[in-house]
Amino acid sequence: MASKDDEQRVRDLTERDIKRTLRDVRIPDVVIGRVLAQWPEFRADDEWVSLLASLVAWVDQCRGDVDVPIPIWDDLDDAGESGRIFYFYLFAICYDLACGFLSDGGCPSDVIDSTMTVVPRHVQIHERKRGSVGFEPGWWLLPILRGEMVQVGSLQFHRVNLGVGNLSPEPWYSIEESLERGVGFRRGDPSVGIHIPYGAALAPHDLDATFARAREVLSAMWRVNQRRLATCQSWLLDAQLTDFLDPASNIVQFQRRFNLLDDWYDNDEETIGFIFQKSGSGGRIYHATRRCSEVSSTCSSAGPLARAARLDGFRRQLMAWPPPIHGASTTGRNSRQGPMASLYCLAIVLTIWSR
Ligand SMILES: CC(C)(COP(=O)(O)OP(=O)(O)OC[C@H]1O[C@@H](n2cnc3c(N)ncnc32)[C@H](O)[C@@H]1OP(=O)(O)O)[C@@H](O)C(=O)NCCC(=O)NCCS
Repeated sequence: MASKDDEQRVRDLTERDIKRTLRDVRIPDVVIGRVLAQWPEFRADDEWVSLLASLVAWVDQCRGDVDVPIPIWDDLDDAGESGRIFYFYLFAICYDLACGFLSDGGCPSDVIDSTMTVVPRHVQIHERKRGSVGFEPGWWLLPILRGEMVQVGSLQFHRVNLGVGNLSPEPWYSIEESLERGVGFRRGDPSVGIHIPYGAALAPHDLDATFARAREVLSAMWRVNQRRLATCQSWLLDAQLTDFLDPASNIVQFQRRFNLLDDWYDNDEETIGFIFQKSGSGGRIYHATRRCSEVSSTCSSAGPLARAARLDGFRRQLMAWPPPIHGASTTGRNSRQGPMASLYCLAIVLTIWSR
């Protein structure tokens, strides 16, 4: 997938660029030091360069095409130091183009700033879970660098066409019922996915401000001429929580903003992973294809052969990932491809976003 030019682009990345980018998004200096220290070894390794070049090319190619499935795969921590640091280099290379894309699309500069400064949060998650420098989960950077997920106020908002993008709510209404409910509910209708970051300020006044700003910003950036729903799929919306939490708690008040759907699925492991940030649950939170899990299970040790197998497995995952299909229709049908992102949550909710 990576051309010689793509690989050259990776090799042209300088320590200065890395430092500037990571400082821009407020990564602590001690972490930046570790990222820079690994760069000469990473840059001299053809395998890593080619892998990174492939992912950079893919991100650039997909930017602006929200229907291309987001790969949800295990992190590369088991492939050694370069694997742990991999996503910092991806970020450093894609950062300027991603910011430019958002800015050209009408995203205000403070929203670009809050979107990109999520990086330290994921560095902290990695530190908490694994006690080392890294970015967890790495794939979460992909919708951000593709320019389709932004942080406004307390929450992240994700542009997705219902039933088409693989981060769209699932399960959803049946085709018949969604047609009956009309515009906004149908397969292919534009929607906005809501994500709750770790430590998000969820007090009612924070959320009022967040939703008010998000309505303004997203209506300008992601224009629609029809009713659009916002959906959220989270353990926070589990109705059972009302049996345990204070009715005045942030979580219960957050729940009241949404209408709960009848369908959900249980997933204690993923819920616990999110709440307690236990080591090892992050990269495997989402269901991967059978082939991907086979690859990871053969590479649990860290020797050179395991590393080669891990890198090869990752490369094959990347190559197998669908490229953008330009001009393809996105309405009225479910064109899901690749592994389905069965989100970790117990319930789906929806609310009318805008008209
Ligand atoms: C989302 C989040 C910020 C909500 O926290 P909050 O604003 O403190 O929520 P509430 O005030 O409603 O909490 C109610 C109770 O649950 C507790 N609680 C909430 N989140 C908790 C967590 N992650 N771990 C332990 N306890 C938690 C609170 O301490 C509070 O306990 P108390 O009644 O004894 O004081 C927090 O849960 C969090 O950071 N979660 C991780 C990210 C996440 O799960 N995102 C959703 C992904 S789908």
